[in-house]
Amino acid sequence: MRPVFLIVLALISQASLADSPPLERQQALLELLHQDCGSCHGMTLQGGLGPALLPSALEGKSALMLTATILQGRPGTAMPPWSSLLTQQEAEWLVTQLKQPAPPQDANRH
Ligand code: HEC
Repeated sequence: MRPVFLIVLALISQASLADSPPLERQQALLELLHQDCGSCHGMTLQGGLGPALLPSALEGKSALMLTATILQGRPGTAMPPWSSLLTQQEAEWLVTQLKQPAPPQDANRH
């Protein structure tokens, strides 16, 4: 790979790191995840009315599709659209959290 590609890659990965919501907002998003999303997907996201959102369940599913599902919902199912409460960046961040092998930080808080 030529050096210029590496530089571009480094810039892209930095940009996506800088793209995380502010820390305070991250905390609020994790609370939303366990309380609001948890009301259907289960407090520990193991599934309920909605399917499990654990890393094992989401493995192999495209982050793009999952982000779109969160923002737009799934018409004809109970999954509501969240685009009035969440930005694209926040939905992407949530998907990153959900796909991480370790459970989100406050999974045991409730
Ligand atoms: C009122 C119930 C309800 C609430 C609240 C809810 N969901 Fe869902 N969600 C569902 C249902 C039902 C599905 C499955 C839709 C289907 O059949 O395709 C789903 C699907 C999903 C999927 C796709 C899963 C997959 O494997 O394809 C994601 C991701 C998701 N929800 C995330 C969220 C997030 C994040 C929140 C909170 C911001 C949330 N949901 C809140 C009911 C809900």
